[in-house]
Amino acid sequence: MDDVRVPISSDVDLVRARERGRTLAGELGFQQGDLTLVATAISELARNIVRYARRGEIVLHPIEDGGVPGIVIIARDEGPGIIDVNRAMEQGYSTSGGLGMGLPGVRRIMDKFEIVSEIGRGTVVTVTKWKR
Ligand SMILES: Nc1ncnc2c1ncn2[C@@H]1O[C@H](COP(=O)(O)OP(=O)(O)OP(=O)(O)O)[C@@H](O)[C@H]1O
Ligand SMILES: [Mg+2]
Repeated sequence: MDDVRVPISSDVDLVRARERGRTLAGELGFQQGDLTLVATAISELARNIVRYARRGEIVLHPIEDGGVPGIVIIARDEGPGIIDVNRAMEQGYSTSGGLGMGLPGVRRIMDKFEIVSEIGRGTVVTVTKWKR
């Protein structure tokens, strides 16, 4: 299966990315509840792109390990970057008056979570979910 690449610069793009992710995970055989978790993770990551970086992209990458399918979600932007990534991963930390639940929530509901951010360069969040 091919990668799906969704440019993100508005809430409409966010909805599109979420639906593409749900469809792809469905094609991979994910359970209903996990489709919602995948869609939620994409939603939160894309929302952060729109809010903090204005634009970026979501890449959906199907993988497989020993016959078990998975999905890698890459959220990439060339925005301002995150000053303190450790703080950004704490529940309740927000620079925008938000709930500060997005990133810690995504980490909790995915199997693997990586974030690389550089001030003035941008942010890349890479998360993986395996089919159960
Ligand atoms: N792509 C990004 N570029 C720059 N800063 C980011 C990005 N994503 C997150 N951040 C920073 O990390 C903080 C925490 O993000 P998180 O998604 O957890 O919370 P939030 O967006 O503030 O609130 P919520 O997601 O609960 O509405 C943000 O307030 C922001 O400062
Ligand atoms: Mg957020």
